[in-house]
Amino acid sequence: MRKDQARPVRFLLGDEPRELSGLDPNMTVLSYLRRVERRVGTKEGCGEGDCGACTVVLGEVEGDRLRYRAVNSCIQFVGTLDGKQLLTVEDLAAPDGDLHPCQQALVDCHGSQCGFCTPGFVMSLFALYQEPGPADRNRIDDALAGNLCRCTGYGPIAAAAKTMKAIGKPDRFARHAKQTIAALRKLDDGAMPQLEGDGRRYFAPRSVNALGQLLMQHPGATILAGGTDAGLWVTKQLRQLDPVISVGEVAELKTITVNDRWIEIGAAVTYADAMATIEAHHPDMAAMMRRLGSEQIRNAGTIGGNIANGSPIGDSPPPLIALGSRVVLRRGDRYRELALEDFFLDYGKQDRQSAEFLVAVRVPVADPKRILRCYKVAKRFDQDITAALGAFVLTLDGSMVEDIRICFGGMAPVPKRARQTEAALNGKEWNRDNVEAACWIISEDYTPITDMRASARYRLRVAQNLLRKFFIETTEPTIRTRILAERRAAHARA
Ligand SMILES: Cc1cc2nc3c(=O)[nH]c(=O)nc-3n(C[C@H](O)[C@H](O)[C@H](O)COP(=O)(O)OP(=O)(O)OC[C@H]3O[C@@H](n4cnc5c(N)ncnc54)[C@H](O)[C@@H]3O)c2cc1C
Ligand code: FES
Ligand code: FES
Repeated sequence: MRKDQARPVRFLLGDEPRELSGLDPNMTVLSYLRRVERRVGTKEGCGEGDCGACTVVLGEVEGDRLRYRAVNSCIQFVGTLDGKQLLTVEDLAAPDGDLHPCQQALVDCHGSQCGFCTPGFVMSLFALYQEPGPADRNRIDDALAGNLCRCTGYGPIAAAAKTMKAIGKPDRFARHAKQTIAALRKLDDGAMPQLEGDGRRYFAPRSVNALGQLLMQHPGATILAGGTDAGLWVTKQLRQLDPVISVGEVAELKTITVNDRWIEIGAAVTYADAMATIEAHHPDMAAMMRRLGSEQIRNAGTIGGNIANGSPIGDSPPPLIALGSRVVLRRGDRYRELALEDFFLDYGKQDRQSAEFLVAVRVPVADPKRILRCYKVAKRFDQDITAALGAFVLTLDGSMVEDIRICFGGMAPVPKRARQTEAALNGKEWNRDNVEAACWIISEDYTPITDMRASARYRLRVAQNLLRKFFIETTEPTIRTRILAERRAAHARA
């Protein structure tokens, strides 16, 4: 079949092939499982990606191996299943009834009471089980942070994770990986998956050229990446999206390339896939990203979506802007590039024309002269939306500030640089007096609002204190400013 030809959405449910037609493409994977397949093991809690009760695992072929990742089925649209293996809690026990090691460990460790959260935990544990090697306490915490339990408490569940990893032998999914890979490859003929039902349409073009053309034909379409924002428009705002054009199958948008100047991250690269490269160049940004959403959100969500949604509290724009990142956009077959900070025009308004899409973000590579720190302030450590986020990039010439770039999220209608504060510091000595003086200028750069996450006064105070913290971290490294990071390091050593 030709690449520009359309075909139905195809995937494996467990080991059984499925082909979808006539379904509303706004249907979530959770609704599909419960209403169409009558698989009711997967539960609905919040319907917005927060509680993890709906967690399922998706298997995908990566090179010559199978990779399993947990996602929230409540905010994934059915069309995105194309080419994947969908596993739910019903798939895990062997045909003779033997429990999967992750289920058995949960039983043995008394990790379930009312059981409502349990299928979601089981699927997160299952995804963790498939990862090679042992899992330390940090890895277990990360893998489970997107699952909430109101009655058992997390101790027994974390103990189950540790116990099952100690078993660690290949399960029947690992033993059948070759057959699963062959079955998944058989589904893929290179053509474009399409779904149409209830008068609504979904397209998943396979190339950037096809995406450009489709968007020119449907300039009002909703562009879909990981769906961790767009999914909620349907489940919470009850909007009907038509047509939806997914960037998730566009090979060119799923790549990361590194040259001597830029890390170029394709717009459809997930946080999970970008993490290792960002960690290698900008470890403080990677540490912040570990607190962005949950494992399930990072497995689906993209930096491209975080930029394109234009939110003033998106976590990736402030460090990207402070680093001097640029975005590449395309409309039809024409490309343009601009500084990321110029992409954000006003609240809900970005420099993006209709039918134009984000191709990639270009992030400067690590430079030993430049120090990046970024600080996310939210009410909870894990899985919480930011109240304020400060990102600082400093280049010193001896004790003098050669260049400082400061960008805050949560302080203005868009992620915004603190230009006046920067001007007060550039060319000056990097010392306490100058930093103290600059702290008072932050209020000239920002007029934050009061909302449910924080008051305007709190935000301003936090912004000043983050600048002070940055100063301390760059001048007095023996002062302990990262207590939680120290605790994580201790967990990793234990
Ligand atoms: C439970 C939960 C927790 C979250 N926690 C955080 C958090 O801690 N920090 C944070 O910053 N965000 C958080 N988010 C928000 C969300 O996960 C991020 O904004 C994510 O990066 C969105 O990416 P996506 O790929 O899922 O985008 P989508 O939802 O697919 O799309 C988001 C927007 O971008 C547009 N878009 C996507 N790709 C393109 C493209 N290539 N070209 C043009 N437009 C495009 C879409 O049309 C849409 O307007 C959370 C969300 C949930 C549900
Ligand atoms: S139902 Fe709560 S995360 Fe999906
Ligand atoms: S066992 Fe009841 S919510 Fe977790």
